[in-house]
Amino acid sequence: MKTLVVVSGSDAPGINALLYHLCELITVSGDTMIGALGGFRALLDEQFVTLTPSLIVPYIGLGGSYLPSSRDPVLSEESNHQMLHEVIFHHKVDHVVLCGGNDSLHHLPPILQDVGIACVGIPTTIDNDVAGTDRSLGFDSACQYAYQAIDAVRATGHALTGRFFAVETLGGNTGILTLEIARGAGADAVIVPEYPITDDAPFVNRLKSAVRRKGHALLVYTESVPNKERILASLAQKVGIPLCETRLGHAQRGGVPSHADRVLAREWAHLAFGALKQGAASSITVYRDGSPTLRHGLLLDDPKPMPNRALYNEINGLT
Ligand code: F6P
Repeated sequence: MKTLVVVSGSDAPGINALLYHLCELITVSGDTMIGALGGFRALLDEQFVTLTPSLIVPYIGLGGSYLPSSRDPVLSEESNHQMLHEVIFHHKVDHVVLCGGNDSLHHLPPILQDVGIACVGIPTTIDNDVAGTDRSLGFDSACQYAYQAIDAVRATGHALTGRFFAVETLGGNTGILTLEIARGAGADAVIVPEYPITDDAPFVNRLKSAVRRKGHALLVYTESVPNKERILASLAQKVGIPLCETRLGHAQRGGVPSHADRVLAREWAHLAFGALKQGAASSITVYRDGSPTLRHGLLLDDPKPMPNRALYNEINGLT
């Protein structure tokens, strides 16, 4: 049995642990695991590496991905599908394990299925916006990274009062990651792209009250919030204290994999391996109702998840 692993789209902490566990299972059973050295572009260019546990083991505790990824949408061109078929069969690949976010997991497995190759999808994105799963690999680590930064901001905010701290998180075009960070960090307010602010008065009151009670106020917002500079400047002016901004940026994506992500990586590697061994058709590893599980079939009409509106209202003191 020959398994090809492809990482597509953004990397996420925990991918290396997943590669390691999968590689252990595959090689111990006497099978072969190869990886594409740069997403589907590398696959079409036949740039592969044979993976062994000893190659990957030093990377388990690191963010990023031992296998380089790519955002090159080479398979959106139908003319490349024949080449995909030829490369897959020329290299005698039995199935593909695809690490990717919502877009990759929606669009690529059906193409692989059409060219006659089964695929096990693994949701890997810090954004936690993959349809059909409550968690994606990397999400917990990205929250953990944010807490370190926010705790440090709070330490200085406690020592030198009278500041309005605004921490920008990654998250792409969704605020799911931001909202979870706001919840875990106990932020005074949160802004996400899905819920535009029509009236900033409740936010101003919330932040002013925080300054009165704690000496500083903490707002967490998503990188993709429209007009974010204007909103922050207006809030700072109305709250009446200096604005201090922290942007987590890509450092948040490349942070250390958390315990929860390492465990999830191991459990999903076992589920993926079981599916490969059974010769299952296309499937995806998911996390539902507190358990990792394998979901059969493709992600077709599944809607993209939204940030929890009730939680958003609660954190912002909105009714
Ligand atoms: O989708 C994951 C993610 O890290 C988003 O949170 C972020 O907006 C985006 O990728 C950044 O993409 P790139 O690395 O291509 O700039």
